[in-house]
Amino acid sequence: MQAIQHEWLRRVEAEYGSAALTHHLTLWLLQLTAPFELVRMGLGIVEDELAHAELSQAVYVAAGGSDMVRLERERLGLKLRAGEALELGVARVGLDSFCLGETVAVRLFARLRQPCTEPVALAALDRILRDEVRHRDFGWTLLEWLLSTPASAEVRALAAAELPGMFERLRRSYAYASLGQAAQRDELGQRWGLMPACDYARALLETYERDYRPRFADLEIDAERAWTEHLPRAAG
Ligand SMILES: [Fe+2]
Ligand SMILES: [Fe+2]
Repeated sequence: MQAIQHEWLRRVEAEYGSAALTHHLTLWLLQLTAPFELVRMGLGIVEDELAHAELSQAVYVAAGGSDMVRLERERLGLKLRAGEALELGVARVGLDSFCLGETVAVRLFARLRQPCTEPVALAALDRILRDEVRHRDFGWTLLEWLLSTPASAEVRALAAAELPGMFERLRRSYAYASLGQAAQRDELGQRWGLMPACDYARALLETYERDYRPRFADLEIDAERAWTEHLPRAAG
């Protein structure tokens, strides 16, 4: 049960962090006078992420957890890099957290949801999975919009420069090195919406092949080159 508590507490922190990040990103969109549709999508996502944090907290408590969430205010929200134009800050965060992060989240939560039977965890995963589809679409709509603005060429240059490192960090957080390892099935964990590391790696590879590569190709962005740039040969 301890691993289950630990994981759901981590999710509360991550969901709350996503709410702060999206709230800040939506302010940046307002400052850029982005299309109303995008701003409204951003505001809707903030609400969703707060609901995810609350639902995850309910799972944590149901699993017997009683610790406080650790949220450092300095790490909530966004910062522009020195000299970075706002358009490019938006593009950087949109690529990393939405085109990459929310897109893999859809496939991840679908896998977590499947063997989950604990009602409180199921309620959380159902809502999260339903919302992540919209969050993913926000990322790609945002990128399309940025590519239709005068900053388009700089956004393309940013994608080419930043995607290799973004993919590398994503592979690290999805335990990509464990791809192909035999799964240590833990039935209790699965019932509560946890899964082994190698399944995270599989979800990421599936996302690369079925989402990142084709979706970026549609926008004439070479995800294949970015994906392989820091990839050790043995890991395929
Ligand atoms: Fe979420
Ligand atoms: Fe989300």
